[in-house]
Amino acid sequence: MTNEHAHGHGHGHGHTHPHSEGIRRSYPPGVIGIHTLPADHHDGPWDSMIVPAGTKERLLSTALLVLRQGRLLSNLSGGPHGLIVLAGPPGTGKTTLAQGLAQAAALRMAPRGATTLVEVDPHAFPSELLGESQRAVSKLFLDTLPELAARRPHMVVLIDEVEALAVRRSSASFDTNPVDVHRATDAVLAGLDQLRARCPHVVLVVTTNFIEAVDEAVLSRADLVLKTTLPDVETIVGIIRGSLEELAGQWQEILPLAADHELHVELAKACDGLDGRRVRKAVLAALSGRPEIALSPGLVTADDLREAVRWATFA
Ligand SMILES: Nc1ncnc2c1ncn2[C@@H]1O[C@H](COP(=O)(O)OP(=O)(O)OP(=O)(O)O)[C@@H](O)[C@H]1O
Ligand SMILES: [Mg+2]
Repeated sequence: MTNEHAHGHGHGHGHTHPHSEGIRRSYPPGVIGIHTLPADHHDGPWDSMIVPAGTKERLLSTALLVLRQGRLLSNLSGGPHGLIVLAGPPGTGKTTLAQGLAQAAALRMAPRGATTLVEVDPHAFPSELLGESQRAVSKLFLDTLPELAARRPHMVVLIDEVEALAVRRSSASFDTNPVDVHRATDAVLAGLDQLRARCPHVVLVVTTNFIEAVDEAVLSRADLVLKTTLPDVETIVGIIRGSLEELAGQWQEILPLAADHELHVELAKACDGLDGRRVRKAVLAALSGRPEIALSPGLVTADDLREAVRWATFA
């Protein structure tokens, strides 16, 4: 991904983000990343996600419809909100799908200009100060996002872990959630409606691993709610094969293991119950079973994989 400066935004009070290259970049308040897509080196994650047939097509089409036709559709009595919700347990690929979707959509929109991915930090809005987070959330939807969208042809906004921002008011108790949380959620709802009115072509992707905690009125505004689940054995087989193929890309001695379907099935059965992240980690852990392999990963064997899976499923 290519980072860009948030030109002219958040002077003074914009928070400064330490960039990996050591350059400090300033983003508007609540924004932790601005990326210009498509970026060449960024197709991998979307392709590597194994999801039920039709899932990626629906996700991509939902985003493209809003990016391309959002302005026209806003004239309908029930136009899209441009809101996509990805919900499911930890490690089931929500963030990977959300970021991959931005890149996949950017590729399709590229002939008409770049797509900007804006990452919002839902934890950046302090809820302990009465009225403060409500104002910050309103500012995000009313000023920050429309200003960013105004100078860019296409924009996708990602709010990872949205439950931090839009707590379900009906279940938020007044002793655990200050009144301000309710106000922040109301501000999110008002913000969603106003963003849609001002920028009907902006796509907002939000993720949560606790859909029960996300406000019903927010979910009601979603054009698509996609629930990610723990992978079944067949999906785990695919994740194991994909992980080994990636390793074989670095160390070609691993190619025979990457092609051994029977081994993948055996390992996958043992991995049943793990989330996708932990399956990938189990494969990787085979490289850290012995110092020789850590130093020369091409030496890894089927037994190292079996042993790594035993470790992964033991905890
Ligand atoms: N169905 C899947 N197919 C392929 N890879 C998967 C799948 N599910 C998870 N993964 C892998 O697991 C890792 C973690 O995924 P990701 O971070 O997107 O999960 P998440 O749902 O956002 O988790 P969290 O709720 O903890 O933030 C990624 O490397 C991803 O590629
Ligand atoms: Mg995530």
